[in-house]
Formats: sequence, structure tokens, C-alpha cells
Amino acid sequence: MKKSLIKNNSIVKIIVVSLCLISCQSNPSKEVASETNNYVPEKNDMLQAADISVGQTISLRCGACHSLSKADEPGKIGPNLFGIVGAKHARRADYAYSDALKQLKDRTWTVDNLYKWLRDPEAYAPGTLMPYAGLMDPQDRLDLIAYLMTLK
Ligand code: HEC
Repeated sequence: MKKSLIKNNSIVKIIVVSLCLISCQSNPSKEVASETNNYVPEKNDMLQAADISVGQTISLRCGACHSLSKADEPGKIGPNLFGIVGAKHARRADYAYSDALKQLKDRTWTVDNLYKWLRDPEAYAPGTLMPYAGLMDPQDRLDLIAYLMTLK
């Protein structure tokens, strides 16, 4: 009796482990699928889901290269980002942008465009000088953009 209980237990363990393996494998492929479908959330969805204080923490990573807090601060390695949401690309006269960004100067930094840029700057503007691999987590990008929207 005792022996068969132990046996049953190990069968349960094997089932649990394989279920975990299956679900662990299916998650990343789901993420890749939604990325390749170019999923771009609606602005309202984003604002509802976003956490501005988490976004502020994430923005510390941008602060190494960007001024964020005031419009009149000069650029660092990258241009000043104060008020960037809703502004045109390559808008700062005090910064030497790459041709990749200069040729997009009529385009607006909408929430959707920032969402794409932050996922992969090089894919958004091939040849850009922003040496940043991109924020993989969509929620991180939403939180960060929500914070950037407060900088005005
Ligand atoms: C290692 C330095 C570096 C980091 C880190 C970095 N950037 Fe940049 N960023 C740049 C540079 C350089 C440019 C100018 C790119 C060009 O001219 O092609 C730029 C350009 C930009 C622009 C375009 C601004 C405009 O005026 O059109 C935005 C928006 C931007 N960065 C946002 C961010 C955000 C948000 C983060 C944080 C997740 C970040 N960057 C992190 C260096 C950086």
C-alpha cells in the first residue's frame, strides 16, 4: 500500500514537471508571435495598463545619455527628451542628429512611434546613433512612455 502511494506520487511529479516544461516552452513563442504581428496597442489601453512610477525608475536607464527633467538642459550623448511625446523627430537645434533621424523630422513622436522605437531603435530608424538594444518587455515600454508623457 505504502509503496504504491510513493509510486503514484512520482507519477504525479513527472506529470507536473512535463506540464511545466510545456508551458515554459509555449510562453516565449507566444511573445515572438505577437511581436511579429507588429502588435501596437491603442493609446487608451496603454494608459490604463501603465504604471508611471515604474516608468520613472526605468527612465533612469535613459538618463545616462539623455536629459529628461528640463527643456533648457543641453543634450548629453543623446538629445534632451523633455516634452518628447507629441514632438517632432530630431527637433533639437542644439543636437547633431544622425541622418537616420533627420530624415524622419516631419514625423511625430506619438505613443505608438515611441513604442516601436523603444522596442528596437535600429529597426525603427536604420543607422541611428542611439546605441540601445531596446526594451523587450511591452509593459516596460508602456510604463516608460506614460512617464515620458508627464515631462512637459
Ligand atoms: C547609450 C546612450 C543612450 C541610451 C541609454 C538611450 N539613448 Fe536615446 N538616444 C541616444 C542617442 C545618441 C540618440 C540620437 C540618435 C540619432 O541621432 O540617431 C538618441 C535619441 C533618442 C530619441 C529621439 C529624440 C529626438 O529628438 O528625436 C528618443 C525618443 C530617445 N533617444 C529615447 C530614449 C529613451 C526613452 C531611452 C531609455 C530607455 C534612451 N533613449 C536611452 C542615446 C541613448
